[in-house]
Amino acid sequence: MKKLLYIVILVLVVFAAVFLVRRGESNATNNDVLVAYFSATGNTKSVAEKLSNVIGADLFEIIPEQVYTADDLNWHNDKSRSSVEMADKNSRPKIASNVKDMSKYKVVFVGFPIWWGREPSIIDTFLTSYDFNGKTIIPFATSGSSSIGDSGKNLQALAPNAKVLPGKRFATDVYAEDLKSWAETQMQ
Ligand SMILES: Cc1cc2nc3c(=O)[nH]c(=O)nc-3n(C[C@H](O)[C@H](O)[C@H](O)COP(=O)(O)O)c2cc1C
Repeated sequence: MKKLLYIVILVLVVFAAVFLVRRGESNATNNDVLVAYFSATGNTKSVAEKLSNVIGADLFEIIPEQVYTADDLNWHNDKSRSSVEMADKNSRPKIASNVKDMSKYKVVFVGFPIWWGREPSIIDTFLTSYDFNGKTIIPFATSGSSSIGDSGKNLQALAPNAKVLPGKRFATDVYAEDLKSWAETQMQ
């Protein structure tokens, strides 16, 4: 009888240990992973926050030195700031602040809204502001309906020494769990 009790206790202890280890894993932090994003109207921001939470990565918002107004974002006006910038592949709008220590990250997720079928010019500024040598860059985007298109290829051209993946467009209300499983396959 005593032996049976010992076995039951042992089994319970093993289960508790496995449970605690698993829980620890899901709350793991990824110290060498950064989620950097630009968001003009909040959609990409919500996806970026979900992603950084669920994978335990640092979060950095790419804030423009000159914030985009509603007029700036008017794509019906070919003279609006965003239209003018996006028509010029060499446009590099200034960013207000820098990532403190980019050298500590091995993987950098880069999030943005799709503008005119690709990454906004300020993302090009971000890509040309750091040394991404040996790092993996994983783009993600939100949009009205467009896919992420050639954004990954564009980013690769701007950071030739990095490994840039094609990336993916997400709906703003994407489930955190879906982001997590996608991110894990990307980081393998
Ligand atoms: C200047 C501009 C251009 C856009 N171009 C596209 C586009 O080509 N395709 C698309 O599906 N959505 C386009 N959109 C919609 C945004 O991609 C979409 O609203 C995105 O989720 C906004 O993200 P944010 O809230 O993080 O800024 C455009 C929006 C703006 C302001």
